[in-house]
Amino acid sequence: MDHFQEDGQFFFHVHQISLYDLYDWSKVTDNNSEMIVSHSNVSRNSFTDTGRPNKAPSRRSGLRTGTLVRVNENDVALFRFGETVYGISEKCPHAGGPLHVGDIEELPDQSLCVRCPYHGWKFDLATGKCRHPSSRGDMSTKVYPVKVDHYTGDLSVGFIEFSPLYFSTPMIFGL
Ligand code: FES
Repeated sequence: MDHFQEDGQFFFHVHQISLYDLYDWSKVTDNNSEMIVSHSNVSRNSFTDTGRPNKAPSRRSGLRTGTLVRVNENDVALFRFGETVYGISEKCPHAGGPLHVGDIEELPDQSLCVRCPYHGWKFDLATGKCRHPSSRGDMSTKVYPVKVDHYTGDLSVGFIEFSPLYFSTPMIFGL
């Protein structure tokens, strides 16, 4: 079973990626009141072939990026901040930039945003609202709740419904 129901949502397990594969952005600080970090490794930290979750941080977790996963036929960018994991739609609603390679910023009100690598628009990881430019505060993108099993590191992403594409994938029974 790759999904379960909770809190009125369908949670889909993230295969082959655990909490310990994610870069922990809470460890990044600088001297500004607004935390700004930039990554030198723009790498597609996506599906891993490391097998079962490992409690030790994996080598992959050293890459200062989010992690792209595909769940319920949706591309979702995951960002770890301490023991919390945020899920946001991978495709920037402005012009399709890949948000999983965006930097994370903590704004003065302590909200966390991802900054799109293409044109620098910022999206709140908790609400999906555009925080910059302020003139586009009416724009938002999808965010997804992420459940973390702190024993195994397993991750599950919540959706209010199954993707129609979920059922179009061929299924093979009784081989
Ligand atoms: S594509 Fe993301 S800000 Fe333009």
